[in-house]
Amino acid sequence: MLKLQNISKSFGGVQAVKNCSFEIEKNSITALVGPNGAGKTTVFNLVSGFSNPDKGDIFFENKKLNHLPIWKRSRLGISRTFQLSRMFRNLSIEDNLLIALREDDDKFLKMFLRDVEGDKQEKNRIYEIMDFVGLKKDPKTIVTDLSYGQQKLFDLSRALLNSHEFLMLDEPVAGVNPILRDTFKKLLKELKAKGETILLIEHDMDFVRHVADTVIVMDQGSVLAEGDPEYIFSDKKVLEAYLGTTV
Ligand SMILES: Nc1ncnc2c1ncn2[C@@H]1O[C@H](COP(=O)(O)OP(=O)(O)O)[C@@H](O)[C@H]1O
Ligand SMILES: [Mg+2]
Repeated sequence: MLKLQNISKSFGGVQAVKNCSFEIEKNSITALVGPNGAGKTTVFNLVSGFSNPDKGDIFFENKKLNHLPIWKRSRLGISRTFQLSRMFRNLSIEDNLLIALREDDDKFLKMFLRDVEGDKQEKNRIYEIMDFVGLKKDPKTIVTDLSYGQQKLFDLSRALLNSHEFLMLDEPVAGVNPILRDTFKKLLKELKAKGETILLIEHDMDFVRHVADTVIVMDQGSVLAEGDPEYIFSDKKVLEAYLGTTV
């Protein structure tokens, strides 16, 4: 479904991604792991269009993405979350999700010109997603009043809202408590059962082992190792040098 071929990207003197190649199969969960600064978020930016590669090609369903704008990639079905929540901080859950729902819609502009109430269908979609992820809050709650964990559920809701083919989650459970982590494990498995293809960045090896079909280890911008979790987490070299832990 997604294919990166010898992708490189530098920022000034820093080579964030270096000759990076990998492929993602449809209807799978892939975990992208590796130390801070390995280039994981940069890969997300390159795939979703927030950044463009200096070298190499990115294919999505055999279509070359390289320099397509963000909205075109989102129309092709690429949806993502961010390592740090992006939200309209003074707006409610419902209004934030309405904006996301209309992002590539002409209603979006109208909504800024005058306050357009969400129609029933839009609201039902929002409530359905909140219910699915287990965000049990009044939709009128201002997003900054959500706890950190609830904000992570909000991020996931927003990424799921519009129809998509491919879901990219940048550290969806970083800093989240163990109970909510288990909820996320279940959610990701349910999403896969529904046919989703997911690429996630995550540091917690227990979490990765539970949800991922494939693990890609990045280090210094390149792929260091790739395989199923059991194989990757038994690879002493990977464990000692890059994960800094024995699991
Ligand atoms: N916009 C940017 N400008 C300058 N340097 C950047 C930028 N984005 C990333 N980098 C650098 O690229 C490297 C990889 O960063 P990143 O992709 O965020 O790593 P990871 O997500 O694996 O922690 C780091 O050294 C980071 O400082
Ligand atoms: Mg990152």
